[in-house]
Amino acid sequence: MVAKKRLLTGLQSSGRLHIGNYFGALVPFRTLYTEYESFLMVVDYHSLTSVRSGEEMRQNTYNAIRDYIALGIDPALCTMFKQSDVPEHTELAWVFDCLVTVPFLMTGHAYKDKVAKGIPPSAGLFTYPMLMAADILLYDTDVVPVGEDQRQHVEFAREARAKFHTAYGETFKEPKEQIRKEVAVVPGIDGEKMAKSRPQYSIPIFATRDEIAKQVMAIVTDSSGERPENVYAMHKLYKTEAELQPLYDANKGKYKALKEALIEDIDALAAPMREKRASITDDDVKKILKVGGEKARAVASAKMTDVRQKIGVAL
Ligand code: ADP
Ligand code: TRP
Repeated sequence: MVAKKRLLTGLQSSGRLHIGNYFGALVPFRTLYTEYESFLMVVDYHSLTSVRSGEEMRQNTYNAIRDYIALGIDPALCTMFKQSDVPEHTELAWVFDCLVTVPFLMTGHAYKDKVAKGIPPSAGLFTYPMLMAADILLYDTDVVPVGEDQRQHVEFAREARAKFHTAYGETFKEPKEQIRKEVAVVPGIDGEKMAKSRPQYSIPIFATRDEIAKQVMAIVTDSSGERPENVYAMHKLYKTEAELQPLYDANKGKYKALKEALIEDIDALAAPMREKRASITDDDVKKILKVGGEKARAVASAKMTDVRQKIGVAL
């Protein structure tokens, strides 16, 4: 039997998952994960670049795993784990930090964007892409489903791999990002990229109906065009353009009616998942993470044994 290819993605536990995470990363993962040997990770050490409360970090992790399961991702069919349970990630990140240069890391867009948005310019935030490179390369990942904002980070992982290979020889598989064009960047209610760091502009996947209604009613609309573009951009995620055409034709200029239709569509998808989510306890999450952490660690530690040998820290 030919071994299955590997699929891996990670999401930060820095806040409530939103519909941008859902359509950009989780739906692509859910669509593909049973065809691959799959890894789904909460990258809590990445979240440490922005979260400053232990209790908040803990709750976000419980919630993230609950979210994955409520979305229909079965922990029995993939390895669901948190990054901090596998110390090989931070270990390999250090090795990569020693191989890439500061000028190279300075070409990263995410660092500048995040600092501009008020996240402290810590050394961790600066070297963040090398921790992500370790996340990906440790597992000999073939495919990384992500949103457009992560394209450069997967390129950086390939660069870290190349640097390691030049110094020590072939060790890691070459990973490739998978970015779905239609949902590459889901806009927030202000039209800019939806992000966990901007909750006031986001729609959480598991928002209550009231929260959904409040956020949708606040979507910024531009009265000059034929249709409210920011409303339409979000609506396209839920319905095909052919389905939306008659609705938007019949409601030209009636932004309130269009927003109400969007609220219905968002809520219709969210309601059954909200119910499932409420039934998952903290203990369920702990059990899943224990199993997932052990499975992930077995793969990662085998790879690190090879790395330690090659760089000469294993005697
Ligand atoms: P955030 O940017 O909200 O903090 P993460 O950085 O944890 O979220 O990203 C998790 C995944 O969700 C990544 O694959 C990222 O590309 C994707 N993602 C985040 N925001 C969006 C968005 N607005 N549109 C599409 N994909 C997104
Ligand atoms: N940096 C990614 C983001 O902010 C999260 C992430 C960390 C990730 N490690 C990863 C995504 C490995 C895919 C694969 O969205």
